[in-house]
Amino acid sequence: MSDTPAPNWKSTFPIRQSDEHDVSRRQFCKVACCSALAVGGGWLAKDKLFPQPKATEPNLIARVEELPVGGYKLFAYPTEHHPAILVRLSESEFVAYSQSCTHLMCPVHYRHEKREFYCPCHEGFFSAEDGRVLAGPPPRSLPRFPVEMRGGEIWVTPA
Ligand code: FES
Repeated sequence: MSDTPAPNWKSTFPIRQSDEHDVSRRQFCKVACCSALAVGGGWLAKDKLFPQPKATEPNLIARVEELPVGGYKLFAYPTEHHPAILVRLSESEFVAYSQSCTHLMCPVHYRHEKREFYCPCHEGFFSAEDGRVLAGPPPRSLPRFPVEMRGGEIWVTPA
């Protein structure tokens, strides 16, 4: 033992250096439980904090004669802030998707000769048949919206 008196702070914080790295089972369980609760609570609250927009009403998008086969029309859905695209794949087949690339939200463009959507930002490609990723960095398919033909009109309906 040395003769030098212990500094004042040691009496205020009486923790020995050798004990500083010891973690009791109880302390470990407290930290683990608090972390699990924080992560679980965050997961449950994400829909409340960042709600996904949902349309509740069918929207009239176009009249059939507006679009030739291979043609497309841009519209907004489910809100005015969400660009979407309606494509006429054949005489009787219409499809509608979000126009925002699932990678970093650049607008996608339709190429009828390949029946695909192209994102020029990072060379992303999606199938126009079902929206699946064909190539590039997009992590998931383009969101698809249900389309209904009513007489000569094309409606997008809530999923
Ligand atoms: Fe579309 Fe990156 S934003 S590929």
